[in-house]
Amino acid sequence: MHPVLPGAPWLIAHKSMLSVNRPHKITLNGRDYVLWKNSKGEVFALDNTCPHMQAPLSEGWVCAERNTITCPFHALEFDGEGRLYRDRKPSAEALAHSLELNLVGDCVWTYGGCESRLPIPDVIERRSQGFRFVGMTGHQSVWGDFLSNLLISYDYNHFKGTHRELFKIQAIEIHNYEANDYKIKLDQKIIRQRNSSQELLINPLLGIFPQIYLNRFEYSFPSLVTLIGEFPVGKVLQVLVIYPETENRTKTFTLVYAQSNPILLAVLKKFLLRSVAELVRQDIVAVENLYPRQPPKIKLPDEEIMFYAEKLYRNWR
Ligand code: FES
Ligand SMILES: [Fe+2]
Repeated sequence: MHPVLPGAPWLIAHKSMLSVNRPHKITLNGRDYVLWKNSKGEVFALDNTCPHMQAPLSEGWVCAERNTITCPFHALEFDGEGRLYRDRKPSAEALAHSLELNLVGDCVWTYGGCESRLPIPDVIERRSQGFRFVGMTGHQSVWGDFLSNLLISYDYNHFKGTHRELFKIQAIEIHNYEANDYKIKLDQKIIRQRNSSQELLINPLLGIFPQIYLNRFEYSFPSLVTLIGEFPVGKVLQVLVIYPETENRTKTFTLVYAQSNPILLAVLKKFLLRSVAELVRQDIVAVENLYPRQPPKIKLPDEEIMFYAEKLYRNWR
């Protein structure tokens, strides 16, 4: 396939998603890769196709001592640079194709073999200062092209429909909208109805949501949406990640960080990750049920940001 937005930086994993010395397969822009993390926390990536007879390396196994991956078909072994490891030494040349990675903190970024057209955003490092990492959630492969998945993350009005049940949102106001090239910032004021005691029993997390609260968004086109929700008991940072797997599939996962009382956080962690996963699930149902896109005949307030993002996408050359 022709790569989506060639030269864009893609966040393909957080280190917490990789088990030590276990192969992890990802698909980016139509190509499969195998990633593995060693015990030192170094991460390697090769094209998933074995250069011998094209078996998937991700079905093989990692050798911790030699830091190599072994193909499941004829047990040939390759190091992190793609060199064939035989008779206790690596070949002079790389035979398997390696994927260049950029590690920033615990985040694994790549340009997917394309020349960089945008720097790796600093938004996660910057916004997560003073926060602790809670976990990764909502890891899904979504049926739908990249643009459809991108647009739903820039669409505020879907909260009232798609997410009506969980957060009981009555109204959303957008303030301080600032678009600067590939970075967009805005504040979103959420006005919601109270949850019933039965809903609070099922999900105690809803108890920390006041009737009015603020989400501060920072978008880093095209791969990240970050938002800090401010509540009386602390702050929650969500980093929604998307990247194109194939023409019709988009990968998403969300990193969650929080700044709050550690005991409260330990109690609410499970509900926090579960609620974010539920939001992602609702988005996926919405995107996967869409009919093919047509020019909209109706305009809603605060849709400019969505069209701004679409313009960035279409003008990418
Ligand atoms: S196909 Fe990989 S070793 Fe033969
Ligand atoms: Fe959503």
